[in-house]
Amino acid sequence: MSTAVRFHDQHADETGPSFRDDVIAGLARFPKALSPKYFYDERGSLLFESICHQPEYYLTRTEEGILAEAAEEIAALVGPESLLVELGSGASHKVRLLLEAMRPSRYLGVDISRDFLLRSTRRLAADYPWLEVHAAWADFSERLRLPPGVEGRRVVAFFPGSSIGNFSPAEAEAFLARLRRALPPASGVLIGVDLIKDHDILEAAYNDAAGVTAAFNLNLLERMRRELGASVEVDGFRHLSFFNEAASRIEMHLVSECRQTLVVDQHRFAFAPGEALHTENSCKYSREGFQALARRAGYRPDAVWSDAEGLFSVHYLSND
Ligand code: AVJ
Repeated sequence: MSTAVRFHDQHADETGPSFRDDVIAGLARFPKALSPKYFYDERGSLLFESICHQPEYYLTRTEEGILAEAAEEIAALVGPESLLVELGSGASHKVRLLLEAMRPSRYLGVDISRDFLLRSTRRLAADYPWLEVHAAWADFSERLRLPPGVEGRRVVAFFPGSSIGNFSPAEAEAFLARLRRALPPASGVLIGVDLIKDHDILEAAYNDAAGVTAAFNLNLLERMRRELGASVEVDGFRHLSFFNEAASRIEMHLVSECRQTLVVDQHRFAFAPGEALHTENSCKYSREGFQALARRAGYRPDAVWSDAEGLFSVHYLSND
């Protein structure tokens, strides 16, 4: 097998709303809100990598521990020669734990951040010469497409990191149902889901002492400046995150410290002192709560693994 990555540009023909359209629409709403998918420009993807290494951010290392422990069991459930599709592949560290054990014949990384995707899939191709590596540059929250050639294959969709938490429970159910319809028969979803836990632990994970999560959140404003030529005083905003217990989610906001105006093109958006731009929800589930959601989306929850402290869960959902 060659070490070249087969690149699928599914972004160029995407006609959906752009960053500019969504910023203008989101700032015109009350309360102001923007999709967390816009965190991941090049700098945001790097900052997220750094978040994953912060001591307070237990999610990444805990999920990696679970996957390392369960890899052989997962491989036995899935069988060899499958097609492994990673949604939001980012730096593709976690998938390495699965590749050796699962020995899929093909890997497809799907990500919204083009250069990041290319770099990490090239590294995978170099490190696993027996693996056929594909990369799809796409916003899978808008539209889900698997490249041709998946018919008659068993696909395992790997959705790590609790990224599913960015959707509301209703959106997550609809997304998983849509994913199920895109998968060939006898396929499955391997999905990481963060668990409800002590609020202090949850809140610390989104308020790391080094300030990386704050920088990640504030990068949205810098991205507006860089890409849209927006006029915005980044120093006039502060990072806020907290656990909303009623909604079972971490919320992140950018709070204006004063009265100010953010300008994009000819659009002027006034912020009152203390007014927030809602930038992210990160929903947390119980193991049973997530299994019930998966059943409603049409799956059979075949297995679930957790760490000893019950911080995080990894589910295998089969579509038949
Ligand atoms: C990538 C959505 C799983 O919600 O924990 C990390 C993103 N935001 N710190 C999460 C994130 C702030 C992350 N997900």
